[in-house]
This record gives sequence, C-alpha cells and structure tokens, in this order.
Amino acid sequence: MTTGGLVAADLVIAVLAAAGWLGAGAASAARRRPLALGLAAFALLATLARAITITALAHAGWWFAAEKILIAAPLSLAAVVVAGPRLLRAPGDIRSVAVPLLFAGYAESSALLVTVLHGYPASAAVGLLAVAGVVAATAVSWRVLGRRPSRRVSRAALVLAVAALVAGTGLAAAPGATPGVPHDHDYRDASTVGEPTRRFTLTAGTATVNVSGRDVSAWAFNGQVPGPELTATVGDVIEVTLRNRDIARGVTLHWHGYDVPNSQDGVPGVTQAAVLPGQEFVYRFRADQAGTYWYHTHAVSDVGVRMGLYGVLVVLPAPVTGVDVTVAVHTLAGLPLPMPRAEPVKATVPVRLRLINTDSTTHRYALAGTAFRVAAIDGFDLRSPAPLVDTAVLIPAGGRYDLVFTTPATPVALFVDGRVVYSTGPVSTATGAWPVLDPLTYGARSPVPWSRFDTQFTLVLDRGLDLHGLLPRYAHTVNGKADPDIPPQVVRLGDIVKFTIVNRSLVVHPWHLHGHHVLVLSRNGRPATGSPLWLDSFDVRPGDVWEVAFPADNPGMWANHCHNLAHADAGMMLHLMYS
Ligand code: C2O
Ligand code: CU
Repeated sequence: MTTGGLVAADLVIAVLAAAGWLGAGAASAARRRPLALGLAAFALLATLARAITITALAHAGWWFAAEKILIAAPLSLAAVVVAGPRLLRAPGDIRSVAVPLLFAGYAESSALLVTVLHGYPASAAVGLLAVAGVVAATAVSWRVLGRRPSRRVSRAALVLAVAALVAGTGLAAAPGATPGVPHDHDYRDASTVGEPTRRFTLTAGTATVNVSGRDVSAWAFNGQVPGPELTATVGDVIEVTLRNRDIARGVTLHWHGYDVPNSQDGVPGVTQAAVLPGQEFVYRFRADQAGTYWYHTHAVSDVGVRMGLYGVLVVLPAPVTGVDVTVAVHTLAGLPLPMPRAEPVKATVPVRLRLINTDSTTHRYALAGTAFRVAAIDGFDLRSPAPLVDTAVLIPAGGRYDLVFTTPATPVALFVDGRVVYSTGPVSTATGAWPVLDPLTYGARSPVPWSRFDTQFTLVLDRGLDLHGLLPRYAHTVNGKADPDIPPQVVRLGDIVKFTIVNRSLVVHPWHLHGHHVLVLSRNGRPATGSPLWLDSFDVRPGDVWEVAFPADNPGMWANHCHNLAHADAGMMLHLMYS
C-alpha cells in the first residue's frame, strides 16, 4: 500500500472507531445492551487496528507519524484502558458503562479533530487542548447521565480540564510566528531587452464560445479559447500588449514555465497591478529558452484560467521540419475542449506532439500506434530518452511533455484519460492498463551539479483551520499557515537552494515555482536516476516527499504555489524573495 493509501486507511479506521465508541456509549445510556456491546466490540477492534496503521505509517517513514504516536495513540490507549475492563466485567446494568464508553468516543474524536482541523505542526498546546476537550465532554456526560462522580473525581476532572485548557491556550497564543509577506517591494527594472521582433496583442474579454455544439460563456483572449498560439524562435524579443476590454476583476499575463525577469512575471500585487477594464500593459522579454510553455492570467487565476484566459507559447530552436502540433488540454464549463484535427500524414515524417495540461488536476496521456520518446519535459530537453511503447504519461496541472516519433504507415492516436483527442486515422486500442512512465528513472543520468546547499526550506502541504482572517476558513496550508500568513522564503542571489516538499494531505498538490526551474534530487527517499529533470510543475501526491534544488539566479519576488488554482486561492501560495 502506498503511504497515501495508508494515511487514508488510518483516517477511515479512526472515524469508524470514534463512531463506534460514541454509538456504544449512546446505546448503553439507552439501556440497549446487545447493541451497546456489539458497537463497543467493533470500536475496540477498530482502535486496535489503528495500532497497525500507525505502526505501518511510522515504518514507511511517513513524516507525521510522530503526531499520531504522540496524540492519537495515547488517546486511543486511554480509550481502551478505560472502556475495555469495564466492558469485560460484563456489568449487570449496562448503563453503568455509558460514561467510560463515551469517554473513549471523545478521546478518539478529539484525536481525529486534531488530525483534520489542526494539521501540522502538532504541538504540546494542541495536545493539551485536545485533552481539555475530552475531560470537559466526559464531565458533562457524567452530569447528564445522572451518575454522580465522587467529589474527589469531579474536582480532579475540573482541575485537569482547566489546567489543560489554560496551558493549551497559553502555548497556542505564545508569540512566535505570522510575519506577513511584504508586498511593497518593487524590483521593476526598466532595462530594455532589445528591439521587439515578435509583436502580439491580446485583448481579454467576456465571450460566448461554442464547445461541441453547446454555447458556453467564457473569458477569452481575442475572442477565442484558448487564446492565440504565440510562437517565436530562440533569440527573438517577444512583445505582448495586454488589453482588458471588460473583465471586471482584472487580468495579467503570467508566462508559465518561462523564466522571465521578475517585472514581466504577471503576478498582480507582487510584480504589477492587475490590468483593469480599459487599461493595458506591455510585456517584453527575450526568448532565450526553446520549448513548450503557456501563458495565463494570474488575476483571480482560479476563475480566470478555468474560464479560458490562457494560451500556448512555443519557442522553437530553429525552423521546424516535419509536423509540430500543440495539444493543450483544457476543460471549459465541464466540457473537454476539442483539439486540432490531425491531417493524415505520410509515413516516416518526424512529429513533435507538445502536450500541455492547462487544467487544475492531473491528466493521463497515452499515445497509441507508434513507439515514441519523451524529448522534453517542462521545456527542458531530456538526455538520451529511450523509445517507449504502450506507456502512458501523467502530466501534472501546468506541466508539459513533448513526445516525438516518426509516423508509421498505420494510424496513430493520442488518448487523454481514455478519450481520443488527436488521431491520424482509426485506432482501437485499450490504453487504460498501460504502465505509467516514471520520469525520475527515464533517460541518461548525469551527476547533480552541486555538493552543498546554501539555503534549505521544508514545505509541508496540508489542510487546516486558518483563523487569521475575519472568518475562520478551512484552508490549504503550507507549514500550518495559509496565504498571506506564510512567511516568505528569503534567498541571496547565487545561493543553491533546496526545497523538501512533503504532502500530509489526502489530495495531489501540483507544485509550481515562478521564475526558476528546479532540479529533482529525490522522491520518497529514492534519488532520481534518470535524465536530469528540470521542472516547473510536479505532482506531490499524498504521502510524497520531494527534494528539489535550484540556483537562485533570477532576482525578484516570486510566487511559489500549488497549481491546483483553487488550492492556491484557498491559501496554498507563498513567495520566494531575494534579500
Ligand atoms: Cu501557471 Cu502562478 O502559475
Ligand atoms: Cu494543491
């Protein structure tokens, strides 16, 4: 079982155990003896089963096993110790065990609440608050069920609850964190990059577009979704004039994966102000890196990109020979956008398929009918990629894979999530069972260019309660905090920076750092053994631990966020800044 699977199993068992104990407590209070005994036996088994999942998680090297061992395990143990023997004594009056059973239920539930609501990092404060909650709830049950505890017991419970509550809140309120992200920096350099050789104008506006026969309302560049494909050749100077016709919440252009100077990065509130209706902004940068990229608005990006404010950016190393097609997968109003129709091509023509995932979740791509190589990922060429047959690739949100092949005499088809999106003729192949390429073991290795890291950061991706706004919200968090409360990562120009990114949650987080590509060092403790992988978008799955590094060579203030844009919007966004 994967670590992610274990985490999920442990959570399900914890819910069952808590429900079982609480149900048993309620049943015994109602004098439903068989039901109470049945539920209690079930809860006991579930609680014991957690010992197995918690041990397995610790064994798998799960980063957060300590939290389960320090909070969930003692509370579960207390549950078993208090409720177990009383049950075994087979009480004549089942009602007499109601409070111990409820206590067990409260203990399991509060451990669960700590896991779900609080998240990382677990602290003594949280443990004490959990204990206070359990004691208080037990005391209330005692009163309500009319079984008077002795004076000594109730006084002890009161003292314990108050002490735990006071200590817990004291520790939680202790000063220590939440420096805000300074947003007042201005790295704008007016330096010209030369005379533009490729000029484009993109006008953002509301539009109605037709998707497979249905009219849907969209936000579009130049009236089309996706926006116009921008192409250039290495060495060109690209100049794009962005105009906003009527997108009330503003637009910008972010060049996803293109490591432009900071002032051109298109992040509202950080590198520029959002372009409001009637306004314009001119972007200019040199196309010095060939490859497949895309652009999209970064103003209310969750809504904006989903509604259609995106397009393709391709920088060619030299004039193209053969067929060069871009397949930018996108879902608009719940409908997959149709792809370019493929021309039937003669045999032995070289083809480059540039696959882009512009959605917020992973897609599975399968190329049937030919052997192929993955020539590049996220715009960077791979070293000696071997030919692949009947192998699928998973592309994270925002990511790009370039597949190359020579046309065979028979048809070729590209499947996305099992659906044909591009084909040169009829192909009927079931691709669902194909193995998935692991890019960390693909292509020829070359040594990591650095032996030391000047700065290291750990990012724990999670969910948790964010209490810093006007209203509490259930946020996607990094190190227990949500944007804008996540402290910025400060680096110096020239540093070699290492990130350790750990996913404690139950969902995938496609990670994306602006302005830099990161070199993958390892995943889940196993070093990358394939071609050097310089990525700008990579899926950190539940339970995953990724180590990546990069040279800090592009000064400025850079967004660093989850590219499931709804997650970014719900807090999973921080900033990397140069001192
Ligand atoms: Cu494509 Cu900040 O994102
Ligand atoms: Cu995410």
